[in-house]
Amino acid sequence: MSDARELAGRALAHFNNGTTDLAPEQLRIPIDAYTNEARYEAERQTVFFESPIAIALSLELPEAGDFQTQTVMGVPLLLTRDRDMKAHCFINVCRHRGAKVCLQEKGHQTRFSCPYHAWTYSNQGELIGIYGEDSFGEVDRATMGLTELTCEERAGVIFACLTPGHAFNIDDWLGEFAEKLADQKLANWHLYTERCLDGSGWKATMDGYLEVYHHDSVHGKTVGPHTVGNLLVHDTWGAHQRMAFARKNIQELNDRRPESWDNPESFIRVVHSVFPNLSISAILGGQCLVGFIFPGETSTTTVTRQLILSAGAPTTEDEQTAVETFSQMTLQAVRDEDYALVATVQGGLGSGANDNFLIGRNEPAVQHYHREIESLMKASRRA
Ligand code: FES
Ligand SMILES: [Fe+2]
Repeated sequence: MSDARELAGRALAHFNNGTTDLAPEQLRIPIDAYTNEARYEAERQTVFFESPIAIALSLELPEAGDFQTQTVMGVPLLLTRDRDMKAHCFINVCRHRGAKVCLQEKGHQTRFSCPYHAWTYSNQGELIGIYGEDSFGEVDRATMGLTELTCEERAGVIFACLTPGHAFNIDDWLGEFAEKLADQKLANWHLYTERCLDGSGWKATMDGYLEVYHHDSVHGKTVGPHTVGNLLVHDTWGAHQRMAFARKNIQELNDRRPESWDNPESFIRVVHSVFPNLSISAILGGQCLVGFIFPGETSTTTVTRQLILSAGAPTTEDEQTAVETFSQMTLQAVRDEDYALVATVQGGLGSGANDNFLIGRNEPAVQHYHREIESLMKASRRA
């Protein structure tokens, strides 16, 4: 049975029974987990600097010679795709005296000349040119290439570890979730637009991505009318999660035998949540919302790089209108609804009203995310 058919079947059963997937118990999370700065720094270090995190989508660097720069949690990065189509992630800092090597946001070029004293690097990171080398003195080029971070690409996503010298095994990290991600065929989509959103603290922000309990109340004018509130189909693969929601039309499936469900994906919405920082929400009609969520310098802020994808580049006015409408709707849902609401959570964290938050049985993905952080922290303390 296809995944979509199975998910639609499970969603339909919940719809008919008024149920949802449940965690075995509620979970109490101490407020400390959201507010303690020392804890935050330790978690940010282990979870976001010493683990693989999602940095970009493969489709952002479609061709050999493409590059992109970003500053991720204070680290300037240069992502390139070399002639063998291998993706690289370098620290975008010159090895001479530390200037930012590439100042453009994206483009197509295979060598990068530092604007300060014109040392030049290839898109594989080698130091290939030293201006005035005779007078500068000898340089061991082999050890003076751009600092490269471990970078792996799977299922249309480029992962890197922000700590130089830290390796990871992406296949172990993703496990069988890699197949679920690959099914999304992310590399085939078209990047329509991207933007950065400032948000409240990391955990309060992430919690909002991991439940459907709030959809009716918060998203009454945007995504709420299209999905059934408080109905979640939930699966995990290691730390990674998949959430399926029922669309309001799901009851139509009651009139058909499962064997004749030829487009089960049009009755559900599926979100893939790649631990710890990537949310991929493929929407019927050829649109997809992608969020890379990065914790800020303190526990009180995040930055989200939000990408809007369309199945193909819009060619007609109708297609252009459809994707622009989707883009505006998701901006409203995420920035003006989710993030505005979460700002009130953030504002109250220090109020003393709660010693802990009670996470419901109907919020299993929120529970799972917090547990996975704990277990990663435990593992790192043992290591
Ligand atoms: S800092 Fe880049 S060449 Fe001097
Ligand atoms: Fe939301």
